[in-house]
Amino acid sequence: MTDGSSRGVGTFVVQIAKCFGVEVTAVCSTKNIEAARSLGADRVIDYTKEDFTKAGELYDLILAVNGYHSIFSYRRGANTSGTVLLVGSSKVIRLLLEAIIFRRLLSCENGKTMHFMGIAKLNQGDLIFLEQLLGDSKIRTVIDRTYKLSESVEAFKYFEEGHVRGKVIIQTV
Ligand SMILES: NC(=O)c1ccc[n+]([C@@H]2O[C@H](COP(=O)([O-])OP(=O)(O)OC[C@H]3O[C@@H](n4cnc5c(N)ncnc54)[C@H](OP(=O)(O)O)[C@@H]3O)[C@@H](O)[C@H]2O)c1
Repeated sequence: MTDGSSRGVGTFVVQIAKCFGVEVTAVCSTKNIEAARSLGADRVIDYTKEDFTKAGELYDLILAVNGYHSIFSYRRGANTSGTVLLVGSSKVIRLLLEAIIFRRLLSCENGKTMHFMGIAKLNQGDLIFLEQLLGDSKIRTVIDRTYKLSESVEAFKYFEEGHVRGKVIIQTV
C-alpha cells in the first residue's frame, strides 16, 4: 500500500514494488487513478472518496509517502505482523510528536512495526539495482513538465501549487 502514489516519490514506489512482484494498492486523487494503474498498481483507492485507514482492509506494508494520516490511523490499516514506513510528510512535526508522546501506547500493539525513514543510507548496491531497472525500462521517471533554467521561478511556483504528477524538470543545459 502506497499512501501518496502520484508525485515524485510515489510514482517510483509503485513501480519498484511491482518489480518485487508484490500486490500494490495505490492511494491518490481521482485525476491520477489511471496514471497509477499505468504504473502497475493492482488496485487504486481515491482518497477523495474513501479513507483506506477506515475501510477495514489490512495491509502487510504501508508506505506512508505523504504522511497525511495520523500514526494511529496508519497502524490501524496494518495487519498484525504489518509494517508502517513513514517516508516523508509536510506534517512531519505532528507525526514526530505523535511518535514521541504515544510511543508506549504504540508499542503495545502486538507485532505491528513502525519505522521512520529519516535520511536513507547511501548504498551503492541499491543504486546499481535502480540503474538496472531504469536501463531495462522496468521503471521510468514520470515527467509532468520541463522548464528552462531561466524559468526556475515558474517551475517552483508550479511545484508549490501541489498538482504535479511525477517530477518537474529544470534543464540546466
Ligand atoms: N518529490 C520529490 O522528488 C522528493 C524528493 C525528496 C524528498 N521528498 C519528500 O518525500 C515526501 C513525499 O513527496 P512527494 O512529492 O512524492 O509527495 P507529497 O507532496 O508529500 O504528497 C503527494 C501525494 O499525496 C497525495 N495527496 C494529496 N493530498 C492528499 C490527501 N488529503 N490525502 C491523501 N493523499 C493526498 C497526492 O495525490 P494527488 O496528487 O492525486 O492529489 C500525491 O499522491 C515529502 O515529504 C517530500 O518532502 C520528495
